[in-house]
Amino acid sequence: MVLMSKLVATLATLTVAVTAAPASPPQVALTLAPPAPPHLVIPPNFPRSPLLEPILSQLDPDHASQLTHHLTRYSDLRTLRLSDDPLALDLVLPEGAKALLRLQQTRFIDTTDDDWDLLAHNHNDDEPPSSYPDTVTHNATSLAPLFNHIHLGEMHHFLANLTSFFNRYYRSQYGLQSQQFLQAHIEHLHATLNPRANLTIVPFAHSTWSQRTLIVRWTSPSVPPSAPAVLISAHQDSTNRLPFLRAPGADDDGSGTTALVATLAALLRGGWRPRTHPVEVHLFSAEEGGLLGSGEVARAYRREGRKVRAMYHMDVVGFVRRSTTPSIGLITDGVSRALTAYLSRLIPHVSALPVVETECGYACSDHGSFTRVGYPSACLSEGRFEDSNPHMHTTQDTMDLAEFSLEHVREFVKVAIGYLVELAGWDEGDELGVRVV
Ligand SMILES: *[C@@H]1O[C@H](CO)[C@@H](O)[C@H](O)[C@H]1NC(C)=O
Ligand SMILES: *[C@@H]1O[C@H](CO)[C@@H](O)[C@H](O)[C@H]1NC(C)=O
Ligand SMILES: *[C@@H]1O[C@H](CO)[C@@H](O)[C@H](O)[C@H]1NC(C)=O
Repeated sequence: MVLMSKLVATLATLTVAVTAAPASPPQVALTLAPPAPPHLVIPPNFPRSPLLEPILSQLDPDHASQLTHHLTRYSDLRTLRLSDDPLALDLVLPEGAKALLRLQQTRFIDTTDDDWDLLAHNHNDDEPPSSYPDTVTHNATSLAPLFNHIHLGEMHHFLANLTSFFNRYYRSQYGLQSQQFLQAHIEHLHATLNPRANLTIVPFAHSTWSQRTLIVRWTSPSVPPSAPAVLISAHQDSTNRLPFLRAPGADDDGSGTTALVATLAALLRGGWRPRTHPVEVHLFSAEEGGLLGSGEVARAYRREGRKVRAMYHMDVVGFVRRSTTPSIGLITDGVSRALTAYLSRLIPHVSALPVVETECGYACSDHGSFTRVGYPSACLSEGRFEDSNPHMHTTQDTMDLAEFSLEHVREFVKVAIGYLVELAGWDEGDELGVRVV
């Protein structure tokens, strides 16, 4: 945020400088859009404006020229919100200029397609505390028949594969290819581990980019068709601070994606199926574009009148900072208090790791998109926010780091399984004849 103020200040200063020069026409206009909040509007021809010089001069020439190309290529204007302070400036920037915010490590929500009628204040039906059970019926012992099917070797192989794409940037060909790989991988798990599970992959097509969000719907004959869905999610895309560079994204959010894939594999192998509520696994596209993918999904769910019992998101769950105690970070801002309190009751029954409550700030991940339209959401992360992976959005976000731990990711798989079994039930009359007690 400090860096952001600097950028805004730079833009404002340059605006004044440019508009004050009588000889040249203004290239950057600071307009106050009535009513508040004011917008800082930058026209699409701005790659050639002087304001970029301080930024570009810090990059090597090749990267500077690629960045200029990126800014020119993605010129559609987007509205970006940087904080939930109603008086804060919204930025109106070309899509490509999101790279400048990434470069400054500033988080934002792309609110261009916000629909006032869908926002939370119109739908504030956050589940009342009573809708989540007071007690937890399962524990690590009773869930062992499912936990025994979590395999670190498989997780390793999957993540090696996922991170081998050059990047998973939502606007790149690589991002589309990694999505296709992910989809084929889940189809393969379904076909080989338990083809009779009623599991359907529904790719969600987005408005202006090709990488799709993958939604896996799982139900069973005992689930009433009108029961609200129990959602669990991570984001599949990755980005470097410069979007055209390599971005292995092992932790961000390859770790959450791996946790979800391992959860699906363990549940399929264990012959589990939901009993009371349908389950949906969401692998969002374009989290790095300002929660774009989850924003479109959450708005579509609202428009379609879909019911959601709970939405539980995992972003960066694989990094344990040296000389800290491994823990499960439970995010306390931008979430449903009832659902978060429920998770803090549940986690000690399924994992031996301590729970630490931590704030992650505005726009920190996709649960925010669901919260914004009034669905109850929660978010888990690798520990205390200040201890999280410093290599995010760089080429060093790899699984080879000494502090990257699939054992740590495995604890989140246990929590995910516990959450799904508790909130969606466990129908033990599986067609495979596997009876698990
Ligand atoms: C798990 O719950 C069972 C009863 O359902 C109990 O006998 C067992 O001791 C519990 N195990 C743990 C590790 O809490
Ligand atoms: C990734 O998976 C594909 C298909 O399953 C396989 O052909 C390829 O060798 C894997 N690559 C890595 C790096 O694991
Ligand atoms: C499988 O699930 C879909 C919804 O995802 C549902 O429409 C269909 O009826 C289910 N099929 C069976 C055999 O239960």
